[in-house]
Amino acid sequence: MKGIILAGGSGTRLRPLTGALSKQLLPVYDKPMIYYPLSVLMLAGVREILLISTPTHSEMFRNMLGDGTRVGLRIEYAIQHEPKGIAEALIIGADFIGDDQVALVLGDNIFHGPQFAKILDDSVRELDGCALFGYRVKAPERYAVGELDDAERLLSLEEKPARPRSDLAVTGLYMYDSDVVGIAKNVSPSARGELEITDVNRAYLAQGRARLTELGRGIVWVDMGTHESLLHASQYVQLVEQWQGERIACVEEVALHKGFITAEQCHRLGEEMPGTAYGRYVRETASRHEIVLSA
Ligand code: G1P
Repeated sequence: MKGIILAGGSGTRLRPLTGALSKQLLPVYDKPMIYYPLSVLMLAGVREILLISTPTHSEMFRNMLGDGTRVGLRIEYAIQHEPKGIAEALIIGADFIGDDQVALVLGDNIFHGPQFAKILDDSVRELDGCALFGYRVKAPERYAVGELDDAERLLSLEEKPARPRSDLAVTGLYMYDSDVVGIAKNVSPSARGELEITDVNRAYLAQGRARLTELGRGIVWVDMGTHESLLHASQYVQLVEQWQGERIACVEEVALHKGFITAEQCHRLGEEMPGTAYGRYVRETASRHEIVLSA
């Protein structure tokens, strides 16, 4: 499975924070925002990733993440010239996707929780068509909304409906089979002039090949599109990290646990950040891993 991170948009809702910086490079407590969706793809076992961003910001992402080899990935870069909708990412990424399955994640979505890695594993293994992930929210009209029947079959999908049929928001993580490129190319712009990802998902739904898994209690999902949600995400990450002593979305740690890099490589990555708590954590994670392996 390939992976795409969409880090486009002009971040207008987060001005003036986004005056010079891409939204997806803003700090979320101790790391840049992009680390969170990146680690979601890595947790799903994805190692080939296309990062789509704007003409202004692409170079900044490249400077930060390079070609991904440090953490055992292959990262490529592409540009979305104007914010023409999430579904356009699948057209921009058509050659990159090829005949493979693909997971698309929005660069401003954070997911975390005890069962989340297992949900990702199961979804990749059982993927047939399109896999969506739902989360119960107080203001569903701000998102795509899914409706499930008693047997948890997906009945309908609507983008930002004025009168939502449920409180189940569709989160910004999508998994597709290789048909998705053809489907995305057939989508027409919506009233707001965007290629809506919900139209892609509805095409799968019409074929009876869309599944929506509810992310239940204990899992946290935040779309960091406003100052409040950005702050809440930072506060959540700080609380969990200080309370538990474990870091969320530490890409070096995820790479180690997924077997993308060795403990020795991980240790060296930690050494590249001397005098920081983050670097010490990466080194300690590598040492603990070696101890477990040699026990
Ligand atoms: C986008 C999608 C929407 C989805 C949301 C999740 O909304 O259009 O379907 O529920 O992301 O973060 P936007 O952030 O563009 O308003």
